[in-house]
Amino acid sequence: MSYTLNTVNQAEKNPLHSLEEWEEDVLNRYPDPESIIKAGKTTAEYRNYETTTRDSVKEFYRLNHVNQTYDFVLQKKAEFLQFNQREMTVWDAVEFLNQLVDDSDPDTDLDQLQHLLQTSEAIRADGHPDWMVLTGFFHDMGKVLCLFGEPQWATVGDTYPVGCAFSDKIVFAEFFKENPDYNNPKYNTKYGIYEPNCGLSNVQMSWGHDEYLYHMMKPYLPEPALYILRYHSFYPQHRENAYEHLMNQRDREMFKWVKLFNPYDLYSKNPNPPNWQELRPYYEDLVAKYLPATLKF
Ligand SMILES: [Fe+2]
Ligand SMILES: [Fe+2]
Repeated sequence: MSYTLNTVNQAEKNPLHSLEEWEEDVLNRYPDPESIIKAGKTTAEYRNYETTTRDSVKEFYRLNHVNQTYDFVLQKKAEFLQFNQREMTVWDAVEFLNQLVDDSDPDTDLDQLQHLLQTSEAIRADGHPDWMVLTGFFHDMGKVLCLFGEPQWATVGDTYPVGCAFSDKIVFAEFFKENPDYNNPKYNTKYGIYEPNCGLSNVQMSWGHDEYLYHMMKPYLPEPALYILRYHSFYPQHRENAYEHLMNQRDREMFKWVKLFNPYDLYSKNPNPPNWQELRPYYEDLVAKYLPATLKF
């Protein structure tokens, strides 16, 4: 069975046709420098972002920005970090995740497994460590949240700190005006509840697939992998440097990995899908090296 959120829930709750629509929008915002050169354009010509954003994507960001409050994040963490939804092998989880398809465009869109494999294979081709290949293969597994009935805006989207002022560098920052924390003096100053350069491990991030999967993988993967998982959608920092004031030295070192990872996530899309049957034995060994036989989601 395959279904999208629009068939499960109301379109008002989940404006995107599929979760990929958010990723396509990120790609539109941060185009591949190589494809700009190939198209003979300048970066400025590519930056017609706000006028070209689809209404469904705008509505998605509006819902995200209005609803991601400090209290909401704590509530979702309390709920999902118990990992009592279901227990699955990695392979069952991949199959489960693949139920997320885009029924507006079933032919052209590659499934979730293809995105994961293209990311991990591009990392492998460049000779990076095997844990980074595994991180590429696993990085979006947290999107199963959507299949547990969570709204799109609490599964994907750029992430950012809550509990302090929202940066105007966050995409569609104007929508934060309707977020209850925006007018709360506890949370609406530059530092809010945090100390200068307190380190991101002390900062609550908006809730979604990144934070969820980070907690799930914490016991198994090395620190750079965990940074990649946790902050790969934190575009306001890894692309815009908007939260330098909350970062400590460790974060700065580890963000080199987050930045290294990002182009593999964004620019590895390839119309020729990797051959899963051929690749499977390699990934089976890799998964067995780092992860237990089953994972609790
Ligand atoms: Fe992701
Ligand atoms: Fe991704």
